[in-house]
Amino acid sequence: MTIEAAASNPAIADTAAAPALHPRWVRVTHWINALAMLTMIGSGWQIYDAAPLFGFEFSHHIALGEWLGGALLWHFAAMWLLAINGLVYVVLGILTGRFRRKLFPIRPREVVGDFVAALRGRLAHDDLATYNAVQKLLYLGILLTGFVIVLSGVSIWKPVQFQHLTSFFGGYNTARYVHFAAMTAIVAFLVVHVTLAVLVPKSLRAMLTGR
Ligand code: HEM
Repeated sequence: MTIEAAASNPAIADTAAAPALHPRWVRVTHWINALAMLTMIGSGWQIYDAAPLFGFEFSHHIALGEWLGGALLWHFAAMWLLAINGLVYVVLGILTGRFRRKLFPIRPREVVGDFVAALRGRLAHDDLATYNAVQKLLYLGILLTGFVIVLSGVSIWKPVQFQHLTSFFGGYNTARYVHFAAMTAIVAFLVVHVTLAVLVPKSLRAMLTGR
């Protein structure tokens, strides 16, 4: 029996010795990441407003930093938190085998089946130890989007020092669009992710307490 399966087994889940469903390193890095991401998104909107790419601006009520200079300070501070914390999560996820165990395999047929079941409100949530196929795809997708947003961010932060990276993204201006698209994907993920966490409160409790 795996650690996760043991934790979800009602026979032993409530005992003091039961192993955590989400180990401490997952919970700590997850919540640091959430804080860093929200700070990056809010300050990023304020930075965007100084030179909008599209015909709209973000309301200053939901943006962070008051003005361009303040937002840049927030953005760069949270950037280090996000990058270092993200690196710890990814390295531990690979070394402990968590990514392999929890996110793979992803079978297209199961993704479609679980997606249809979710739309009908028939997706089972009794086994929190196993992610359904849609969750696996979303978590893997958000990990990859995390890489894209960090790398495109680096390429517009230091376009001279990282000129090969900036050219890889198609130049400074295109990198800005890529960065914006990745932010949009993360915000869309967050809307679904937080809604599901609220709809299945025991999953939120597990991410807070481990059980
Ligand atoms: C800010 C509000 C957030 C809430 C309330 C929240 C809630 C949760 C919950 C409850 C789980 C466990 C899901 C389960 O066991 O079925 C989870 C897992 C996860 N969340 Fe979040 N989350 C938030 C922000 C984020 C952000 C900003 C990201 C990334 C951009 C993120 C990425 C993930 C990933 C990748 C997992 C899977 C972790 C693993 O198993 O290794 N979350 N989240």
